[in-house]
Amino acid sequence: MNSHSVVDISHSQSLAQPSLGGEEVVRLVDVRRRFNQTVALDGISLTVRKGEILGIIGRSGAGKSTLIRCLNGLERPDSGEIVIEGKRIDQLAERQLQPLRRRIGMIFQHFNLLSSKTVEANVALPLKIEGLPRSERLARAHELLDLVGLSDKAKAYPAQLSGGQKQRVGIARALAARPALLLSDEATSALDPQTTRSILALLKEINRKLGLTIVLITHEMDVVRTIADRVAVIDAGRIVEEGSVRSVFAAPQQEITKSLLSGNRPHLPEHLQTRLGSSGNSLVASIDLIGAYGQQQFFADLAETLAHGGSLVQGALDHIQGEPVARFFITIPADQQAILERLRAKLHAAGAHLEVLGHV
Ligand SMILES: Nc1ncnc2c1ncn2[C@@H]1O[C@H](COP(=O)(O)OP(=O)(O)O)[C@@H](O)[C@H]1O
Ligand SMILES: [Mg+2]
Repeated sequence: MNSHSVVDISHSQSLAQPSLGGEEVVRLVDVRRRFNQTVALDGISLTVRKGEILGIIGRSGAGKSTLIRCLNGLERPDSGEIVIEGKRIDQLAERQLQPLRRRIGMIFQHFNLLSSKTVEANVALPLKIEGLPRSERLARAHELLDLVGLSDKAKAYPAQLSGGQKQRVGIARALAARPALLLSDEATSALDPQTTRSILALLKEINRKLGLTIVLITHEMDVVRTIADRVAVIDAGRIVEEGSVRSVFAAPQQEITKSLLSGNRPHLPEHLQTRLGSSGNSLVASIDLIGAYGQQQFFADLAETLAHGGSLVQGALDHIQGEPVARFFITIPADQQAILERLRAKLHAAGAHLEVLGHV
């Protein structure tokens, strides 16, 4: 487990707990924002620490973009506190926000590059706004293009680039002013899976090399799973679940999280799901395990249980950020419940989880 995943401040009451990990780059306390009758943010509290990658996931309309726009001062909350690098920004006037925005880089789904400017001019643009001399701007732009693997495209125009290359330019531009924080709003949503992977790998590399703090919002679970340290699930303007990526992916607690994850996890086959009830000859159980439980021991215990007339009906062993995560569904005759309870106790002692879903 890395040092970030122990930091888990999602609700204002936990702000009083002693802080663990690095310094805070972002702190939100009870942030609220509504648009007429629509409550977009309904009391968001969260902390992001230096060097951390926080993924914020939620369905369309959950409030993700509003949240990220509040972070860079494009949107003003109705109430609550937004603190960036120790400085409260929610009350700042537009003019006072300008220097702050330079501390925050942003990348977008549709790249937002200027089509009339070359790649190097796009990357150098934030530095022009800062008033840096041309030679320094270009030197910095070339350094960044090298970082994102596009040195040979400095003189090209955006229209000559693929989607993935455009996003690399977007990333280089976002880094130009050496931001403390990088915000990403669905930055890979317009890209194919392979390009998405290469962009995520680049973001992770930048995070490691520069120690850059990243907040990325997405509706794609795979994005979070690939690069985030921690994940917050937002639904109807509230954070409903939060934790290390491993723990949330291995054992989601909220229905919304389970539903967002449904494409990524094994689920009970339809023919059993539809018959599931409170009576029947067999019990159906799910088993979730993560890391620690020695696989040989698990399969030995499972085989011993299934030997009592049970069967393995569905499941998979997968890896999340290098750690094995498994989910299985089993059935066992209802009169063998004691055997199932024995397995449950063994699993529980090993930090794994068995849940009886019902009868079929
Ligand atoms: N400028 C706005 N005017 C009116 N309603 C808005 C505005 N921005 C966002 N909303 C509403 O707030 C809710 C959250 O939107 P948004 O933050 O864009 O969600 P997401 O990015 O998760 O899809 C939605 O119901 C959306 O329609
Ligand atoms: Mg959005």
